[in-house]
Amino acid sequence: PESGCLSIVVLGASGDLAKKKTFPALFNLFQQGFLQSGEVHIFGYARSNISDDGLRERIRGYLKGASEEHLSQFLKLIKYVSGSYDSSEGFELLNKAISWNETSEKNQPGNYRRLFYLALPPSVYPSVCKMIRTYCMAPSSHTGWTRVIVEKPFGKDLGSSEELSSQLGELFNEQQLYRIDHYLGKELVQNLLVLRFANRFFLPLWNRDNIANVQIVFKEDFGTDGRGGYFDQYGIIRDIIQNHLLQVFCLVAMEKPVSLSPEHIRDEKVKVLQSVDSIKHDEVVLGQYDGYKDDPTVPNESNTPTFASVVLRVHNERWEGVPFILKAGKALNSKKAEIRVQFKDAPGDIFRCKKQGRNEFVIRLQPSEAMYMKLTVKKPGLEMATEQSELDLSYGLRYQDVKIPEAYERLILDTIRGDQQHFVRRDELKAAWEIFTPLLHDIDAGKLQALPYQTGSRGPPEADELSKKIGYVQTHGY
Ligand code: BG6
Repeated sequence: PESGCLSIVVLGASGDLAKKKTFPALFNLFQQGFLQSGEVHIFGYARSNISDDGLRERIRGYLKGASEEHLSQFLKLIKYVSGSYDSSEGFELLNKAISWNETSEKNQPGNYRRLFYLALPPSVYPSVCKMIRTYCMAPSSHTGWTRVIVEKPFGKDLGSSEELSSQLGELFNEQQLYRIDHYLGKELVQNLLVLRFANRFFLPLWNRDNIANVQIVFKEDFGTDGRGGYFDQYGIIRDIIQNHLLQVFCLVAMEKPVSLSPEHIRDEKVKVLQSVDSIKHDEVVLGQYDGYKDDPTVPNESNTPTFASVVLRVHNERWEGVPFILKAGKALNSKKAEIRVQFKDAPGDIFRCKKQGRNEFVIRLQPSEAMYMKLTVKKPGLEMATEQSELDLSYGLRYQDVKIPEAYERLILDTIRGDQQHFVRRDELKAAWEIFTPLLHDIDAGKLQALPYQTGSRGPPEADELSKKIGYVQTHGY
């Protein structure tokens, strides 16, 4: 493992993302011994004029499950530098603070690692990256490095995303840029390739001959919760589907990579994205929950979808004719994310059990991670009757002693280790925008309307009709 001074800089340190995700993830890594005192220094950078202790107090309440001793050891690692996002003074100051620690390090002089986490709105990415590039790069050494983590939204459509990519691409190379999609850090998302390619069960079945349709579903049981102003600029497709669900789709649909190297994996993801046909309007249902516009920051005439169900069709040998439904919504009846792979009916149904439901393989990403197979069994008893039952692998039962890591925790550790497998490559991002940009432009131009749905419902009934139309057979309990 690499050693030497590691400086982690959280830009936007007093914002929501930093408080709720970044610092807690760093704290978890610290608790597990991945960030050693003496070797690691954490800096918060933001505009507010507060002291080191001011920042520590702001984040303290978000660091859970810790002993007071651990907590104060961690907080001691954190320093605060205040400055704006586009002026040199602040970044010069930041560089001074980082360098001061580096040079006071006893071991391996010159072996400096600097990680910048941009917990900031994307509008300031170009200026912040420019400042980092100009003032804060790690002095070059054979093992030293500078890495930058950026978070979506990466633009609003293909054009703006490409522009952002070029701006950042002039400042950092692809090996220095870590585009985070936190769904790629979730345990069951990381399990997908293992599941598909290490199990003989699945290998021969995972194709158009056996699979009828696939649904990738994200549901939240709360609305935009004070983020209406931001959300209204983007909508559910840009917020969830184009990134989180599409990443899951890639791992479900891609071909087997040549090896587990990040480039081989991402090559296959790009290929499957490029095989997706253009989306048809009659295979899209949009919705907006009642009460969405009560948020004073949302305009009264907003047509922004808070729900969308979109059918993707993959034009290749494995998937021709198999619809993939990507569905996401806020303010629905439950909170969960899952993948449902529905198999075709068994031909020659001598048991007359077809009506009881199809074989379905469900991967529940959250909450309560699980994988289960719905299958037909003989109903125990004297009669020869069948029923649907489940082969169930619930992580809470099977892995009782394992604490499943938070997505951000894992992804920050990957960045420190220099592993880009679970980060989005530039061409992958481009291919993702190519799929959704025409649809998004049509929605923005008012060519598709968001249908009203009740808060706490399943979304607009038209979405269930769409699933039915493309051949999804609803089974009990879904
Ligand atoms: C974020 C979206 O990327 O993901 C939010 O901007 C959403 O709108 C969140 O609530 C969901 O993440 P998770 O991990 O809670 O499913």
